[in-house]
Amino acid sequence: MEVKRARNAGFCFGVRRALEITLKAREEKEGPLYTLGPLIHNPQVVEFLASKGVKLAESLEEITEGTVIIRSHGVDPAVIREAEARGLTVIDATCPYVRRAQELACELAKQGYQVVVVGDRDHPEVKGILGWAGPQAVVVGSAEEVAGLPEAPAYGVVAQTTQPINRLQEVVHALLPRAKEVRVYNTICSAVASRIESALELAREVEVMVVVGGRSSANTRHLVERLQLSGVPTYHVETAAELRPEWFMGVSRAGLTAGASTPDWIIEEVEKRMREIGEMSAAEQMEAVGVKT
Ligand code: F3S
Repeated sequence: MEVKRARNAGFCFGVRRALEITLKAREEKEGPLYTLGPLIHNPQVVEFLASKGVKLAESLEEITEGTVIIRSHGVDPAVIREAEARGLTVIDATCPYVRRAQELACELAKQGYQVVVVGDRDHPEVKGILGWAGPQAVVVGSAEEVAGLPEAPAYGVVAQTTQPINRLQEVVHALLPRAKEVRVYNTICSAVASRIESALELAREVEVMVVVGGRSSANTRHLVERLQLSGVPTYHVETAAELRPEWFMGVSRAGLTAGASTPDWIIEEVEKRMREIGEMSAAEQMEAVGVKT
């Protein structure tokens, strides 16, 4: 069986950078080191960091001393002020693309626009952007929600970096009849879209697709959904141990991709295991799934 990997798969720039910043901090900083929330939505990475002595804190209340790392999603600036007030050293690993969305939201609010953030209101990145945009800013998850927005002479729009572009377009379209001015910044990052695009491209050449990534990773789940919609049988695994030989019976070409929070070492393990399964004879595959030949 031939195993092909998608052109764009695995860690995006911002996640890789946050991990590098964290590992460097572990080498350089004395005392306890925490990430505020899981650095990456991947349990194997969280485990790896724990083995290096990087602890996970869900809130600042859990940290009494040492250094705290702000992950790539970014935070409300009030969180950084509170950490500093508690005497903690803050290392900010906010992705520069998320920072751009935060700064633009802040700027729009200062200029008097009614700030609209297109995204998922429960997502930490959106909570962070709202903190920068001030108390008047609102979040919309879809064009339908625009009807419930406060009236305003001018709207200023930014998007959560991982939103699909058509959602931003639909929201802007719905806002236009409501105001004399709608100022839009496209803050969407291309990393997620390019992973979907290259996975769909690969899916056209193979009989089965495997997606590697944490089950709590929204972008990984989205990748799985898009592939399933394309009609190709698609399996989501967190590690190589979850691969099942029966998925590949009679398959001559299999595709592999991974979410933006999946580290290279896990993708490589999965690829290696897929190749091993692909090299099994039909009889060995039958035996592996419990069928006696
Ligand atoms: Fe940054 Fe884009 Fe990744 S915003 S964290 S590079 S998905």
